[in-house]
Amino acid sequence: MTVKEEIIALRQQIALAQRAYYVDSNSIMSDVEFDVLFDKLSKLESEHPEFYDANSPTAKIGSDIDNELPEREHSVPVLSLDKCYSAEDMLGWIKRTQDKFPSQIELSIEPKIDGSGVVLYYDNGELQYALTRGNGYIGNDITANVKTIRNIPLKISYTGKVAVRGEIYITTKDFEEYNKNYGDNRYANPRNLASGCSRRLKSSEVAECPLRIFVYECFPENQIFSSHLENMIFMKENGLPVNSYFGFFTSQNINEELRDKINRAFPDSTIGNLQNAVEYLLKFSQIRKTLDYDIDGLVIKVNDIALREKLGMTEHHPRWAIAYKFDAPTAQTILKGVTFQVGRGGRITPVALLQPVELAGSVISRATLHNEDYIQMLGINIGDTVNISKRGDVIPAVEEVVEKGENIEPLSFPEKCPSCASILVKDGAHHFCANSECPKKMLGRLQYFAGRSQMNIESLGDKTLEFLFENNMIIQISDIYTFDFWKLLGTEGYGEKKIRNIFQSVEESKKNPFSVVLASLGLKDIGGKAAEILVNNFHSVDKIIEAAQKKNLQFFTDIDGFGETLAQSVIDSFNDEKLLEQIKILKNVGLKFAEDEKNEQETNLFLSGTRWVVTGSFATFKPREKAAELIKKYGGEVLSSVSGKTTHLLCGEEAGSKLEKARSVGANIVDEQTFIKMIEENTASQEKKPDNVKKAEVQLELF
Ligand code: IVH
Repeated sequence: MTVKEEIIALRQQIALAQRAYYVDSNSIMSDVEFDVLFDKLSKLESEHPEFYDANSPTAKIGSDIDNELPEREHSVPVLSLDKCYSAEDMLGWIKRTQDKFPSQIELSIEPKIDGSGVVLYYDNGELQYALTRGNGYIGNDITANVKTIRNIPLKISYTGKVAVRGEIYITTKDFEEYNKNYGDNRYANPRNLASGCSRRLKSSEVAECPLRIFVYECFPENQIFSSHLENMIFMKENGLPVNSYFGFFTSQNINEELRDKINRAFPDSTIGNLQNAVEYLLKFSQIRKTLDYDIDGLVIKVNDIALREKLGMTEHHPRWAIAYKFDAPTAQTILKGVTFQVGRGGRITPVALLQPVELAGSVISRATLHNEDYIQMLGINIGDTVNISKRGDVIPAVEEVVEKGENIEPLSFPEKCPSCASILVKDGAHHFCANSECPKKMLGRLQYFAGRSQMNIESLGDKTLEFLFENNMIIQISDIYTFDFWKLLGTEGYGEKKIRNIFQSVEESKKNPFSVVLASLGLKDIGGKAAEILVNNFHSVDKIIEAAQKKNLQFFTDIDGFGETLAQSVIDSFNDEKLLEQIKILKNVGLKFAEDEKNEQETNLFLSGTRWVVTGSFATFKPREKAAELIKKYGGEVLSSVSGKTTHLLCGEEAGSKLEKARSVGANIVDEQTFIKMIEENTASQEKKPDNVKKAEVQLELF
C-alpha cells in the first residue's frame, strides 16, 4: 500500500467510526483503537503535507456534526486535548511543563467525564442556546434538548455573554434503568446513551432520559480570571454544576485561605505538593470505582491563566492541559515462543516472542511475561491468542489470553541459567542466577555502566560492548578505561574515526560526578537515589568503605531514606574484594570517587553542629527525607530517634511520641513553615544574588 492509499484508508476508517459513534451512538471500535488510528493518520499527514485534504477527520478535530440538526458557529474554538496513558508519560509532561516555568507551577486535576461534550451559551443571565462540539468550530444546535436537563440552570447571575463547556452524562444506575425500560438494551454504555439522547430530534423523548451535566471551563466576555480555580468557582457561584473532585497540586506553599477556598468549593478536593500529583492519578483508579458515573481518565491543567497563554497551543490542542486516560492501547496477536532474559542483577525475565503486531504506532514482536507466577496466572501456551498493552514508552506486556490455541502443555520455567547454566534461585516472585561471573550478567553490567542514563559513553553502545565482551577485550568495568582500543584497528567497523570517538567519549565520561559513578557501578539496590544519599552523607568512597567495613547496620539505617535492606546491600558491596579492586583501578584512571571540593566550599553550612530528628508529615517535603536532605546539605546531622544529643525536632502534622520526648530533652521544636523560612533566610543572605532569585531556587529545590 502506498502512503497515499494508507492515508485514504485511515480517513475512511476514522470517518466511519465517527459516524457510528456520534451519529448512530454505536461504537464500532474502542476509544483506544480510534486514538491509535487518529494518531497514525495525523503522523502520516504531517510527514506528507502533499496529501492534505481539508475534509480529513484530523482537519475537523473529530467532527460530530449531525446533518439533521441545525448547525451554528461556536464563539470560542472547542479544542480537544492531547492524551497519554501512563504515569511515566504524565510525569514527563509535568516535568517538561515545569522546566519552562520552574518556580511557579500549579496544576489542577479533574475527572474526565465520559459523556458527550456540549457548549452552553448564556447572555443576559439566560441560557440562549447550546451546541455540540461538532468539528470544533461549528456544532449542532441542541438547545431544546439541553433545556430538559435538570441540573442545567436556565438562568445564572452573571449577565454578560459567557460560553460554558461541559460534558453531558448519565449515571450508571439511571443508564441501566433507562436502557432496560426504554432502550431495549440497545446502548452499549452510558456515554452512547448520553450522546444519542442529547441529539434526539424530539425533546420530549430527551426529557424521559435523566441526563445530567458537569461543567469544566467557561469563557465570559467581560471577566478575566487569573486562574482555572477562579474560573471553576465562578461557574459554581453561578449555579453551574462543577465536579466535586478537584485536585490541586503546587510547587509553592499553599496558604490557609486558598486551602479553605478550595475545600469549600469542592467537597472532594485534594491539595498537595506537585510531586504527589502522579500518586493522585494512580489513586484515582480506586476512587473511579466508587463514582456513580463513568470517567475515562483525568484532565490535568495548568492553573495559572497567564502561564497558559505563554504555553500556547499546537495545531490540535492546548499545551497547558493533557488527558491521562485509564485504558492503554492494546492489540491482539499470537504467542510464538518464549525466551528467558538474564538481567545485569541476574534476574530471569520470561519474554514472549510474538507474531509482529502494530500497537500504538510501533510494531511489537516481544513483550514481557514478568515471572513464573505471572505465566501460571495467565495459563499461557505457545499458539495462544493474547492481548498485549503498552503504557507509554515502557516495554509492552502480555495482559491476558483471549483464545487458547491447541497447545495445552504448560510452559516450563528453566531450572538453570540460560547463559551460564548455574542452578537458579528463587527470591520473592523472581528467579535469579547467583553466579557473579555469569556472562550475561557481566555484559549487562557493562552495558548499564556505559548507558545513557549512567556514564553515557556514547560510542560504547550495547552492540559494541557485546562485541568487545565476546572477544574477551572488555570483561569488567575497569577494562573500559584500560583497554587499548587501537588494537581494534583493522577489524571490520573499527576505523580510525570510530576508535578516536571511543577514546574521546571514554575520556569525557571521567567528568561525571561521584554520585553518577557510584550509581553506574550497578551495585545491588544502589540506584541513583541511594547513591545521592550516600554521597551527601559520606562525600567520598573512602568514607563509605570505612563505614561499611565496620559492618554496623545501624550506622546506615540511621540515615533518612535508608532501610535495612539497603544498609545491608551497602555493607555487602563495600566489603567485596572484587569491587574494591575495581574502585582502585577506576580511581587511578581518573574517575571521580569524591564530591567536587568546589561544591563543598560553595555550600552554606549554617546548620553545622545541629542534630535533627524529623517527625510527622509535611505538605512540602514528601517523602520527608527531602527535609532531611536539606538539613544535611546545610551541614546539620539527622538522627532517627530523639535523645539527649538532639538539638532540633522538625515537626510536621500528626507528630507522635517524638514531640513529647523532644520537649522533655529540651530540643528546639521547629515547624514546617519556620524551617522553610530558616532555609530561605540563611541561604538568601549568604550569597550575593538578589533575594527573589535565591528564593526561587530554594523553592525549586524543595520540589
Ligand atoms: S478540558 C481546552 N476537562 O474530554 C479544554 N475536558 O479532549 C479542553 N472532558 O472534548 C477540555 N471532562 O469533552 C476538559 N474535566 C474536563 C473534561 C473534559 C471530559 C472531555 C471534553 C473534551 C475531551 C478532551
